[in-house]
Amino acid sequence: MATTGTSRRPLPPFTVVIFGASGDLTRRKLIPALHSLCCAGFLTPGQELKVVGAARTPMTDEEFRARLWDGVAAYARLTPVRCSAWERLTANIHYFPLDYHTGDSYAALGAFLAGLDAERGVGPGHGRYLFHLATPPDLYIPIVEQLRDSGLARSEHGWTRIIIEKPFGTDAQSAHHLNEVLHSAFPEENIYRIDHYLGKETVQNLLVFRFANAIFEPLWNRNFVDHVQITVAESVGVAHRGGYYDGAGVLRDMFQNHLLQLLTLIAMEPPASFDAKMFRQEKVKVLEVLRPIPPERVGEFTVRGQYEGYRTEPGVAPDSQTATFGAVKAHVDNWRWEGVPFYLRSGKRLKTKTTEIVLQFRRAPHLVFRRMEGQPVPANRLSFCLQPDEGMHLMFEIKTPGLEMVTRTVNMEFHYGREFGPGGLADAYERLLLDAALGDPSLFAHCDEIDRAWAWIDPMVQGWEQGGVPLEQYEPGSWGPEGATRLLRADGREWQVYCGDEQHGD
Ligand code: BG6
Repeated sequence: MATTGTSRRPLPPFTVVIFGASGDLTRRKLIPALHSLCCAGFLTPGQELKVVGAARTPMTDEEFRARLWDGVAAYARLTPVRCSAWERLTANIHYFPLDYHTGDSYAALGAFLAGLDAERGVGPGHGRYLFHLATPPDLYIPIVEQLRDSGLARSEHGWTRIIIEKPFGTDAQSAHHLNEVLHSAFPEENIYRIDHYLGKETVQNLLVFRFANAIFEPLWNRNFVDHVQITVAESVGVAHRGGYYDGAGVLRDMFQNHLLQLLTLIAMEPPASFDAKMFRQEKVKVLEVLRPIPPERVGEFTVRGQYEGYRTEPGVAPDSQTATFGAVKAHVDNWRWEGVPFYLRSGKRLKTKTTEIVLQFRRAPHLVFRRMEGQPVPANRLSFCLQPDEGMHLMFEIKTPGLEMVTRTVNMEFHYGREFGPGGLADAYERLLLDAALGDPSLFAHCDEIDRAWAWIDPMVQGWEQGGVPLEQYEPGSWGPEGATRLLRADGREWQVYCGDEQHGD
């Protein structure tokens, strides 16, 4: 989180090297984000930034640039219509055809990068390279090993950093192995594991809300909070990603990373500073005290579902047992959160796309208004709308006008769009690529977070695979399986949604 102000820090010349550059991520996310950063004046193509796309597909620079142009025009926040950075950026984008598995390819890549450096007056051993792995995950280890063995992972007087996309392993063991290989080539502080949720402005706003406002923090604990809900709902199905998704399922795809990141930001203690080390240590402490859910107890704490029609999606097995929906009742076993459940749910093909966190506070302990006896007075709630309707809501009671002593819940809300105008929020990749270029890993996952997250998820995955909880079918366009409603009802609670147009609560 280096750029807390608006000032622009000049950067020494560096090169972003994207492996898997012929793929979708490069075209839809990475280059559009770099383009927006150039438009906004955070990066200057040429002397400061060069981009090399590497992949197996043979392509010329011109062909590569033409592909990227379409992506920039369609997906960049600051489109070429609004700024004139493309011409300079594109002149500094190159394509390098590469065989991921042979040392000669990396030697040639090294020479190519050195040539680009020489054009900018950067001498041998002074190169600065940001390697971005945008390939399928089975190529991560071979590429890192080649970067290590070819010497490209080291720069004597410059720097090298590596950005890795999720999935980061498929369980604790594979993640551990991937970390070992990474550490054999790069020190931990140069490894940037992306969880794009951390790049979202509204997710960073959780930190600002908690730690830049003095009035809420005293309430942020078991004495005042009844429970927390985290919903990450998607209206789309698995689309063309059925092949990957069917092997992963919702726990690995969404809970191990995004939902746990959100949980840690809500539950963490205030760090002494937003220095990457202190910030990430506090998050790890939360993951360390997540109460384990052993395989034989998944029936008590989790619900799994699959949307009707999932088995006929391309790439999905016709008898697939993969969950596309999960709900989990989690506990953070520390002083602050003792007895406060964190209900997490996520699924595909749900009623609407929304990512929302609701803190429900405890109800008023005693009703002083005689005339209202017998009327239930709702608890106060604070809701963070992370996307797509970015903002927040605070629900509290007021007296309705009239001679009766009757209360009603009102909603005090803030929306980014209304406050700052539409299109103001930077894409997550803009923030993350800029931070990686600046050398600030705060918003990336540390290896300890990855280890802890898998250690919590793995037993649940096992329990699900052993059939410890039934796979409930749910109707596309619903809020998921009945079991998710029962999970909360058993505790006298309901799922709540305040963001967007689909509001419902208890
Ligand atoms: C990805 C998952 O990490 O996040 C996808 O692999 C999911 O399955 C996506 O659709 C959701 O991201 P967002 O930013 O649209 O909430």
